[in-house]
Amino acid sequence: MPAAPDLRLAASLDQPGLKAWLQETDPASLNELWACADAVRRAQVGDEVHLRGLIEVSSHCIRHCLYCGLRAPSEGLERYRMNAGEILECAREAVRLGYGSVVLQGGEDPGLTQDFITEVVRAIKRDTPLAVTLSLGERSDADLQAWREAGADRYLLRFETSDPVLYRRIHPSLPGTLSDRFAQLARMRDMGYEIGTGVMVGIPGQTWDTLAGDILRFREFDMDMIGVGPFLPSPRTPLGRPEAEAFFAPPEAQVPNDELTTLKVVALTRLVCPEANIPSTTALATLDRAQGRELALMRGANVVMPNVTPVSYRARYEIYPGKACINETALACQGCLEGRIRSLGRSLAKGPGGRLKADCKNLIASDFHH
Ligand code: 5AD
Ligand code: FES
Repeated sequence: MPAAPDLRLAASLDQPGLKAWLQETDPASLNELWACADAVRRAQVGDEVHLRGLIEVSSHCIRHCLYCGLRAPSEGLERYRMNAGEILECAREAVRLGYGSVVLQGGEDPGLTQDFITEVVRAIKRDTPLAVTLSLGERSDADLQAWREAGADRYLLRFETSDPVLYRRIHPSLPGTLSDRFAQLARMRDMGYEIGTGVMVGIPGQTWDTLAGDILRFREFDMDMIGVGPFLPSPRTPLGRPEAEAFFAPPEAQVPNDELTTLKVVALTRLVCPEANIPSTTALATLDRAQGRELALMRGANVVMPNVTPVSYRARYEIYPGKACINETALACQGCLEGRIRSLGRSLAKGPGGRLKADCKNLIASDFHH
């Protein structure tokens, strides 16, 4: 039996409490945090790990996000956009591999028209039992509504940072638009989507206060899905150049983009959003190929998003360099992940794996809600 979680911990998770936990270095205290996050994960979402097949449908992007290798000004990238038949084939592959859902992810690409995505979603929902998650950036309400009506179940849109000044600095706006991801998340929830979000850990300019604030926003929005990974510098981008660190240095201490800090955010996120589906992210696996996936699963995460994009496209979806699993086929990743999950004594979930609502909460959970 795992140690009973220390319920005093959850009570201390306000802004100063979160900030203190994020900076904690004492091994015994950290072990308490890990045990607590793992116990809450088990009590709330169980031992099953949900696998979502990730389909990287387009590497075109009109945005200039300062951290992302797919940004419009990135040169020397061979861009691609999958056609409907290719996307559908990936979805069928996900079914064959036993996955319960797929995530259609891409840059912000107007070439992925409302009609095109509508047709693709309809076809997947018609031909497979998969839940469909979209992750296509900031889109109009008309697009989002049409896709929801076509059967899309979920939408992922990371807000990246809750500090508005840092947000604006790393997301230059497109002419005539105001980027407001919180507003889009709220509207998508009203449309009936399950909503997912997340942040990067260690963005140049990110402070401990900001990161604590990010975690509070997860709770405030009662997010259904929360993905957290380390910022990984891409030399194709302004934030990946050596001079960026000094240029973007915050007035207070800079949060490191390391594994320990990322794992603390995963664990604390589990405590503040006990019911959320939390992935062990590819960015973390990239930072620690040996154990990154497992450590997140042991410290709060309950989801993995294996890539099912055809290998011929994968290397071209270069958000950051050195991404894990770039040359492995979908089948190879499936085998690898299944082994890693079973080695933790956990099992593979079947079915779409939506958010489990209150009815399966138990006593520990209610204690954690204050
Ligand atoms: N390092 C780590 N994560 C990144 N993302 C984008 N660029 C990077 C980077 N350089 C993340 C963002 C985005 C998600 C799809 O990938 O959080 O929302
Ligand atoms: Fe377009 Fe990141 S800048 S996907």
